[in-house]
Amino acid sequence: MRVGILTAGGDSPGLNAAIRAIGKAALGRHGMSVVGFRDGFRGLADDRVEKLASRSLSGILTVGGTILGTSRDKPHRMLVDGKVVDRTADVVRTYEKHRLDALVCLGGGGTAKNALRLVQAGLKVVQVPKTIDNDIAMTDASIGFATALDIATTAIDRLHSTAHSHHRVIVVEVMGHRSGWLALGAGLAGGADAILIPEIPYSEERIAAAIARRVARGSNFSIVAVAEGARNVADSRALRDSEARRKAASTPDEEAAAAEAQSALDQSLAGNTFRLAGELERLTGLESRVTILGYVQRGGTPSAPDRLLATRLGTVAADLVRSGASGIMVAARGEGTEPVPLELVAGKRKMVPVDHPWVESARSLGTCLGD
Ligand code: F6P
Repeated sequence: MRVGILTAGGDSPGLNAAIRAIGKAALGRHGMSVVGFRDGFRGLADDRVEKLASRSLSGILTVGGTILGTSRDKPHRMLVDGKVVDRTADVVRTYEKHRLDALVCLGGGGTAKNALRLVQAGLKVVQVPKTIDNDIAMTDASIGFATALDIATTAIDRLHSTAHSHHRVIVVEVMGHRSGWLALGAGLAGGADAILIPEIPYSEERIAAAIARRVARGSNFSIVAVAEGARNVADSRALRDSEARRKAASTPDEEAAAAEAQSALDQSLAGNTFRLAGELERLTGLESRVTILGYVQRGGTPSAPDRLLATRLGTVAADLVRSGASGIMVAARGEGTEPVPLELVAGKRKMVPVDHPWVESARSLGTCLGD
């Protein structure tokens, strides 16, 4: 059998560990031949391919990023010479040219949608879930989240001493796209005084009141962990309406127009964390500073839990390919795995339930959640 591998979407720590696991199990255990495509679906459409033999899979377990490169390109809407082109036929041609029996795509929610489209075009596809955001539907865990959580937690730990020394409010922005897993996890683990997530729209006045209560108790500094997607009540409502319009779109053109409108709204809300810090400074009278953790959360060596997750999902993905499975994602389920139909993953997002145990624990601690 012949299997192709690609990594798509934003990179996350543990991708190489997963490529290694899929490749080694496919080569060694199942006697398949393995190729990798460069830069996600773009490399698949362009037929930029490399053979993955044992040698190229050695020494990559601990390496961050992805040896294959990645991109956010979609097969059916790829920018070519400034124009959006449907390159699904090119993808099918590459798949057939290399006589592939299956393609393993490492990616998140967007990749699931693209993988499903390729299944509908006749390819056999298995997805392995990865994203630092932990927002992929139907899986308990995704590759990269554990490492990003460690990085963000360490940053919050370090911000404590400087916030304390200067009697400042430090607003630390954590990634997570439209979900709050990373900010909530790192905020709890790092002991932030306020944690703001997209799932719980915030009021600046309530955060300021919580900071004022800390001052009254003698703590004249505060750490506010804010998810990049967290918004105040009014902006959250506008975003929710715009997302609903995108979901209701019934044709690709309508969807593209709605997505464009949504991204324009996102643009208008860019810089939200700076606005929030300014508002908190105004309301509390305490000097406020912003730290944006950004891409540092996606970089570097994967943690042991991510290496383990990547290894077990990757080896099972190779087993599933061997058994002829297609149109599925290898979900992490407890200590084990479960094949989940891509239809149940594509277009969905795993948000933080507002009664999640982490939320309840934060409330029990008296951490301000902005509501
Ligand atoms: O999905 C992972 C992620 O890092 C998000 O947390 C973030 O919103 C996004 O990717 C950033 O995307 P890009 O790499 O395209 O700037």
